[in-house]
Amino acid sequence: PPWSSPSNRQGSGETIDPVVERLIITIDGPAGAGKSTVSRLLALRLDLPHLNSGFIYRTVTLLAIERAAVEGCGIEEIFERRAAILELIAGLELTFRDEPSDSGADSGRTLVFVGEREISGDLKSVEVTSNIWRVANDGEYRGGLLALQRSCAEGAGVVAEGRDMGSVVFPDADLKFYLDASSRERARRRFLEQGASEASMSFEEILEAIESRDRKDRGRENSPLIVPEGALIVNTDELSAEQTVDFLVGEVEKKRFV
Ligand code: DC
Repeated sequence: PPWSSPSNRQGSGETIDPVVERLIITIDGPAGAGKSTVSRLLALRLDLPHLNSGFIYRTVTLLAIERAAVEGCGIEEIFERRAAILELIAGLELTFRDEPSDSGADSGRTLVFVGEREISGDLKSVEVTSNIWRVANDGEYRGGLLALQRSCAEGAGVVAEGRDMGSVVFPDADLKFYLDASSRERARRRFLEQGASEASMSFEEILEAIESRDRKDRGRENSPLIVPEGALIVNTDELSAEQTVDFLVGEVEKKRFV
């Protein structure tokens, strides 16, 4: 399975001893609601593997773009070579490794490897982000990624985040969360995150990009972003990542000790 156990535990609370044999927790929600940080920290607190499914979609997109460059064809053309893309998906050798923060200024991050190659830095490029829809909107490509995602829960379980974790990938999850925040708050967080680099986008541009991604994620035919049945909606407008994790840990404890 594509994870390595967290060697370092972070967060404010104690690690909870596993009581049930296997625990599957899903966290879905729109872009910028804090899913990546919150799901990472929750997995560390619970000592469970962490699946960031967005990274899988990003990796397939990146590898396809690279293949297009090698073969000297356009991006559109490479995604039309369906057998080649399906083969790439079936042979994906992906591992995630958790990297704790070294400065304490942030909460650390997830490193992504394809074979031995570390690709984390390449996954957030504009070229990748703007082409993900070619994978995300395609039912057959999505289907090819199901086994890989489910394999992450084969051991102790998983904390899985994305758009369709509770609705399609893990419909029988023990606990489902839907992290939400207003589009203005999500845009505000992204705006602050980007710092003062030259490529900075204005707040209005970021807001527009976020609302456009929401429309695409919610409106697509295959596995659209929805509130999965049985999911608890958590609005994070007024919550920090740590406060959100504390709340989710509380819900996990309730579930375990009832
Ligand atoms: O979580 P993220 O922003 O890294 O995800 C990038 C894109 O990948 C998102 O806009 C839609 C797609 N995605 C998806 O279709 N299904 C998932 N479970 C996760 C991501």
